[in-house]
Amino acid sequence: MTDLDDRPAEPEVPSGPSSMGIDPYEKNWMRVSILLLVVFATAITVAGFAAGFQLPGPESRVDPKTLLQTEPWKSPGVYEVADGEYEAYVVAQAWSFSPLEIVVPVGAHVTIYVTSADLQHGFKITDTNINMQIVPGQVSKLEYTFDEPGEFPYLCTEYCGQGHAAMYGRVKVLSQADYDAQHADDATTETTTETTTAGE
Ligand code: CUA
Repeated sequence: MTDLDDRPAEPEVPSGPSSMGIDPYEKNWMRVSILLLVVFATAITVAGFAAGFQLPGPESRVDPKTLLQTEPWKSPGVYEVADGEYEAYVVAQAWSFSPLEIVVPVGAHVTIYVTSADLQHGFKITDTNINMQIVPGQVSKLEYTFDEPGEFPYLCTEYCGQGHAAMYGRVKVLSQADYDAQHADDATTETTTETTTAGE
């Protein structure tokens, strides 16, 4: 005689087309799992189409050895290409960015091209969705519209040696009036610089 003989009878598993023999607990977990999948899929869709999630693609290739002698990389900076449309060319090099400052008026839509003259670096602009890896030989490109005036520091996000932490610059988004005023100054400065360079 064993304890087994004293076991209560197995409860009858309800059967029929409605329950399919699935335990109610399991059914609840299935509901939760499906709900989670829907939540994740929605999050990805919203990120991709509504929040402007972008993947920096390999825009084009460059030769890091001749980079600094080649346009546009030999004169990095930000250029207005159409009304409100800007293109910024940034060179990452141990351990600084060129230019150190990108100045645009509020509302500027900026296409940012970044490449490296030496090692692998990173380029992230604080408080924006601009964050890309900078691989030597490859140009990374992302676009952003600066709708708010203010300063948006950019920094290197890949450890690239001793000076890594010092590798940063900033995007300055000015009111149109301030931008126009400063731009007039810049034009004068640029002319001066060019004259100086020509004289050397
Ligand atoms: Cu460049 Cu870290």
